[in-house]
Amino acid sequence: MTPTQTEAPQRRGTPEDADGTPVVSVRNLWKVFGPKADRVPGSEELCGLGRRELMERTGCTAAVRDVTFDVAPGEVFVVMGLSGSGKSTLVRCLTRLIEPTSGEVVFEGGDIRGADAKRLRELRRRKFSMVFQHFGLLPHRRVVDNVAFGLEIRGMSRAERTARAQEVVELVGLAGYENSYPDQLSGGMQQRVGLARALAGDPDVLFFDEPFSALDPLIRRDMQNEVIRLHHEVGKTMVFITHDLSEALKLGDRILIMRDGRTVQCGTGDELVGAPADDYVREFVRDVPRGDVLTLRWIMRPPADGDALDGPELGPDVVVREATRAVLAADRPVKVVENGRLLGIVGDEEILAVVAGREGGM
Ligand SMILES: Nc1ncnc2c1ncn2[C@@H]1O[C@H](COP(=O)(O)OP(=O)(O)O)[C@@H](O)[C@H]1O
Ligand SMILES: [Mg+2]
Repeated sequence: MTPTQTEAPQRRGTPEDADGTPVVSVRNLWKVFGPKADRVPGSEELCGLGRRELMERTGCTAAVRDVTFDVAPGEVFVVMGLSGSGKSTLVRCLTRLIEPTSGEVVFEGGDIRGADAKRLRELRRRKFSMVFQHFGLLPHRRVVDNVAFGLEIRGMSRAERTARAQEVVELVGLAGYENSYPDQLSGGMQQRVGLARALAGDPDVLFFDEPFSALDPLIRRDMQNEVIRLHHEVGKTMVFITHDLSEALKLGDRILIMRDGRTVQCGTGDELVGAPADDYVREFVRDVPRGDVLTLRWIMRPPADGDALDGPELGPDVVVREATRAVLAADRPVKVVENGRLLGIVGDEEILAVVAGREGGM
């Protein structure tokens, strides 16, 4: 790296930078509710029907339709969509709280659809944990005992589980409240207990189903920051469901957008904003401040004759907002360089086009 090159913000774990083995691999997953649900995924005719027609013809709802994705180690994978798009059904299928109708969910080399009761128990106790919108805390147990509950089920000794619970209580910022009861805590604090409980067993994957949707906006922002901080500290793989785009962009390494049970698009925030797959996604991302999400990769242009090529260098994944000052301050275009290779250049004009919302022919 040359001295003038600004370090690009680290992407936290896209599949490309992992060793290639996803933590969870979902293949052609379907969940159909209703009579003889099994026949729907295999039938080209029924698959082609919209929600209403399918219901009229078969009495079935296809909540998850042919969804495929991989979650990389350490990634925060967000599933986003409007209410009713199938997010909760999808995430529940991943842990078999709901039985999938067809498809595969591969974890540790095996399809969890084939897991027997014993394996499933092990998965739920040791490998996965879930945080829901409704905290599900036990009202007659103190914070520390709520947090330790899963460890108790595992048969951990009292001393050991109390020590572990205390550790995660501190990790989520609840030190001093160990002996409180849930109803003595605010909603945000109760959700911290939920987080601590999910972390206590040191799971491989944390599943969140709209955990902050019921919280006030400011508390919600605190909790989002808390998840980011925890993710940095414990580096867990997370699957996070939300209907809120700004939450998705803030937390997600990648985001899968669902509509009517299907995947509309799956990509990084800058991919969704820079290259929306269709009008539905375009509408979703319309009000996103583009400079906060797009990276230099999206706005650079090839150098032309007469462009000075001795300007400062930046990486392609630097967010436009972070590059604005450097680009405007330089008296020549900034070079976008990756691994010593010149990818393009960015001048004042490209930057100002984003700030004014004019780039990319918009
Ligand atoms: N147990 C069920 N029986 C029948 N339909 C269901 C059931 N659970 C969910 N659905 C339907 O599946 C669709 C997706 O629901 P859900 O997964 O809860 O969406 P989201 O979490 O995105 O709001 C909705 O149309 C919902 O009515
Ligand atoms: Mg839901």
